[in-house]
Formats: sequence, structure tokens, C-alpha cells
Amino acid sequence: MKFHEYGANLEETAVELVNIKKTFKHQGDLVPVLNGISGKVPNGTILTIIGPSGAGKSTILSLCNLLITPDEGRIYVHGKDVQQWDVKELRRQVGIAFQAAPMLQGTVLENLLLPVRLHGTNLKEPEKYLEYVGLSKELLSREAKELSGGQRQRLSLARTLINMPAILLLDEVTAALDTISAHEIEELILRINEEQHTTILWVTHDLSQAERVGEQTWFIIDGTIIESAPTKQFFSEPKDSRTRHFLERKRDI
Ligand SMILES: Nc1ncnc2c1ncn2[C@@H]1O[C@H](COP(=O)(O)OP(=O)(O)OP(=O)(O)O)[C@@H](O)[C@H]1O
Ligand SMILES: [Mg+2]
Repeated sequence: MKFHEYGANLEETAVELVNIKKTFKHQGDLVPVLNGISGKVPNGTILTIIGPSGAGKSTILSLCNLLITPDEGRIYVHGKDVQQWDVKELRRQVGIAFQAAPMLQGTVLENLLLPVRLHGTNLKEPEKYLEYVGLSKELLSREAKELSGGQRQRLSLARTLINMPAILLLDEVTAALDTISAHEIEELILRINEEQHTTILWVTHDLSQAERVGEQTWFIIDGTIIESAPTKQFFSEPKDSRTRHFLERKRDI
């Protein structure tokens, strides 16, 4: 099952950030959160983003589908400045999934059809999407809030896939799950990447996951990319002493 047809025709770069700066107001003061983030994510690849809590990882994701806008700098999605995109269309093409996989009151089917209602797209066989993410169609009439954490995350991914996104932003999507469910969701995401040629920006606290799934890895501290490298090289020969320190400390836990 193929969710989007334009994979082969896309620009080589899915997402490009150019010198992004962002400040948030905190108790009346302006606090810098991103201090000039630049980088490219090639089409169809997986980028893993790691770093301590508060480093700015989620903020980077929020910028890519215009949940927030930068104070300075430019973000390009498929070569087009996000400011030039129609927001609805951008959010259809740039899907986002979170740790919590929030569900609305109602059945699995109603939750699954949410993007259809929001965007007015046509959906003929909703059960196909459930099947794709490994959920039985028997679940369609169940209350979504009654699903297990792993099932909710699958449903959340199915809901995102309905929009046929070319890019997926993932924020700690396996953090709340037990080890087995986390691995299953990880496998599912890798399959989506492989079969749909979906570009993935994947924020995770799980360093072995970042190492397993990534092709490129960014390590961020205090809103700055300290090190960006192909994932294998990043983990086997980290160049920056702060990266080495972070990897050693985390591995000891
Ligand atoms: N909407 C907001 N308003 C004010 N401050 C914010 C807002 N969003 C994020 N921040 C601040 O920006 C900084 C970076 O937050 P962000 O959520 O991007 O970090 P993170 O790297 O995702 O951390 P974690 O690993 O804990 O999820 C933090 O200091 C946070 O308090
Ligand atoms: Mg975060």
C-alpha cells in the first residue's frame, strides 16, 4: 500500500533549516531557545535528534510544520519557504506524532477520520490504514480512549498516514511504551520510511534507538547543534568532547 505518489518527483532536500533563531518569553524575560540552527535533511532519510532536556529538540519540530515561527532564519520544505506554504497543505505533507498520542472522545473510527474531516479528503477504506499499522479492523467501533498505549500510538500513526505525509516529525513516540511495544512501533516507523519513502525527523531520548534507526544524527545542547554526523560515525567516533561526555553519561544509566 502506497500512501503518496510523488516520492520520486520530490526535491532532493526534504527539510532545510537556515540559521534559525528562536526566543521565548519566560517570566517577562526573553530566553534564547534556538541559537542559529542550520541543517539539511535529504528526502527519504531518517534524522535522529538527541540532546538533554530543554535543548530545543521539540521546538525544532514545531517550526517545521508552522506550529510556531522562527524569530530569524528560514525553513524550506521541499525547497519552498514554509511561510509560502498554505498551512493546511503543509500540515498534510508534514505529519507530527507525539509521545502522548492524544485521542478524542469517540470510537477508533471517529478518531481515525479526524484528518479527513479537517482537510475534506476522501477516505474509502479506513480499515486499510488500521491493517497497515497492525491493528485489527474489529477495533473500529471501540472507544479510542480504551486502547492500550501501543495501540493508541499505532492509531495515531494511522491517523497521520491518512494525510499521506511526505515528512514525519516524531517526538518521543516510543517513550511512554513498554520495551516490546516500543520495538514494534519502531519497526512500524522503519517500514513506513522504507515503503513510503517518508522523510523522518525523529527526536528520541533512547540513544540505542537513535543509533539503530538514524542515518544522520544531530546532537543539540542549549539550542545549538554541537555535532551533526552520519549516525554510525556519530556513535562510533564522536568528535566533540561534549558529545562523548553525553553518550558516556547516558550509557552508564
Ligand atoms: N511555548 C513555549 N513558551 C515558552 N518557553 C518554551 C515554549 N516551548 C518551549 N519553551 C522552552 O524552550 C526550551 C526548549 O524546549 P523544548 O521543548 O524544545 O526542549 P526539548 O529539547 O524538546 O526538551 P525535552 O527533551 O525535555 O522534551 C525550554 O527551556 C522550554 O522551557
Ligand atoms: Mg521535547
